[in-house]
Amino acid sequence: MTSSTHTGRIALVTGANKGVGRAIAHQLAELGTTVWLGARDGERGRQAASELRALGHDVRFAPLDVTDEASIALAAKQIEQESGRLDALVNNAGISLAWHTPSQTPIDDLRATFETNVFGYVRVTNAMLPLLRRSDAARIVNISSVIGSLTAAAENHDPTGAFPDGQFPVILSHSMSKTAVNSLTVMYANELRAEGILVNAVSPNWVPTDANGNTGILSLEQGARMPVRMATLPDDGPTGTFTCSDATEEGTTLPW
Ligand SMILES: NC(=O)c1ccc[n+]([C@@H]2O[C@H](COP(=O)([O-])OP(=O)(O)OC[C@H]3O[C@@H](n4cnc5c(N)ncnc54)[C@H](OP(=O)(O)O)[C@@H]3O)[C@@H](O)[C@H]2O)c1
Repeated sequence: MTSSTHTGRIALVTGANKGVGRAIAHQLAELGTTVWLGARDGERGRQAASELRALGHDVRFAPLDVTDEASIALAAKQIEQESGRLDALVNNAGISLAWHTPSQTPIDDLRATFETNVFGYVRVTNAMLPLLRRSDAARIVNISSVIGSLTAAAENHDPTGAFPDGQFPVILSHSMSKTAVNSLTVMYANELRAEGILVNAVSPNWVPTDANGNTGILSLEQGARMPVRMATLPDDGPTGTFTCSDATEEGTTLPW
């Protein structure tokens, strides 16, 4: 595989009907990748896929709720029947419930957040691995966040600059879920290293989406760049890393 052409490659992006996932799907499609646009809602998913197809891209809707094993299995079957394999999986679908400090967090919020943000990544990865193993250059990108960085939290310092020094967010459910995403990224990277499957955690940085009241320090397009780069790594690319989009092509390495 070369890093300059991606025609013929096949990718799945979960939660891609809007926000970061849609921007990643769009950029992958612009590179010539066939993109399976995963979305839990039929109408929203079909609409987003047809809008990207109208721009001339090969984008196909896959109904996929990451909390539902049956829907994931059906999506895998659909991709297998139409595409035969997967070259890239971008685990992006996530929820962000109301932010609570640890002492105020309802346990049900923690449970629901993990169900989507953590168990969802594991479910989809395990279901798609047989298709990824048919690729000669498979890549897995796990969308994470700097708020999952234990080092940044312990130092009360945000290396991305989204939060002022000394004001690192003190939230529980979302932060813990992203720390778990970082952990599972390293575990999968180590398991799949010998097969040449590269697995990396990537933050889009702070970008405007419905999840954060459409505020941000980068545009959605800039935020999608590092995830796309990690989904299209050459064979000698890194695995088991944690990086973040910034205004440059290279992005920033984040502390675990
Ligand atoms: N925005 C940021 O600044 C930022 C920063 C760091 C990390 N991130 C990460 O980026 C990812 C995308 O977030 P976003 O900001 O783009 O938020 P968003 O605009 O709210 O998009 C979230 C997407 O995930 C989908 N989703 C939620 N639960 C799902 C499920 N059970 N099955 C399938 N899809 C599901 C949503 O579908 P519906 O439309 O049906 O709800 C939506 O398409 C998340 O992992 C988030 O943690 C975002």
